[in-house]
Amino acid sequence: MPALGARVHPHYGVFSPVRGEYVDLVARTPLPVPAGRAAGPRIAFDLGTGTGVLAAVLARRGLGRVVATDDSPRALACARDNLHRLNLAARVDVVGPGLFPEGRADLVVCNPPWIPARPSSVRDRGVYDPGGAMLRGFLGGLAAHLEPGGEGWLVLSDLAEHLGLRTRADLLAVIEAAGLRVAGRIDTRPRHARAADTGDPLHAARAAEITSLWRLRID
Ligand SMILES: C[S@@+](CC[C@H](N)C(=O)[O-])C[C@H]1O[C@@H](n2cnc3c(N)ncnc32)[C@H](O)[C@@H]1O
Repeated sequence: MPALGARVHPHYGVFSPVRGEYVDLVARTPLPVPAGRAAGPRIAFDLGTGTGVLAAVLARRGLGRVVATDDSPRALACARDNLHRLNLAARVDVVGPGLFPEGRADLVVCNPPWIPARPSSVRDRGVYDPGGAMLRGFLGGLAAHLEPGGEGWLVLSDLAEHLGLRTRADLLAVIEAAGLRVAGRIDTRPRHARAADTGDPLHAARAAEITSLWRLRID
């Protein structure tokens, strides 16, 4: 992973961060400054940590403590393994299975599966989120887990919108209903070869795909 200057190993059935562009978003978006503190955030959550890659990026960015979760026992074991090898195990707690850990954080990052449909294998669980359950769970629980002045960072591809599986209005309505405000958005385009493959039946959607980091706040 260029953002880490190190390798991250996915275990079987754990989402592999081969499309590094979203990792770069998390590596370069300015960290929030929590209310009443001159310094940056101290505690971050990484929900649905997979290999632990985003938790590692946050720890390397100077977060004193990161709590990483996942509902997949395979992912929890994989993240622990990677964080241990990266010498970050002392600063990152991997807990679960579950979505939110206890307590509040200055920064809550979540890169949920981006297609609201049923996975057909364990390997698809990083891509397919039945009924958008994880996306809704993250947005619905965020306000109760953010410290004042904190931010939630939602990393989400809009491929589902291009496939007619979700609308932008739906997403904005869920954000608003959760009492959240969009403080900013940083976009990136896929760099993988399939995005340029005109023979792919999903070419039109893939060519238009944008992955965004949504900065969400409660104040
Ligand atoms: C797109 S992958 C992201 C993995 C990692 N954060 C990354 O950026 O490479 C989504 C992750 O969310 C996890 N997940 C899916 N549904 C979940 C849920 N309801 N609660 C917690 N984790 C979930 C999956 O196991 C998977 O590891």
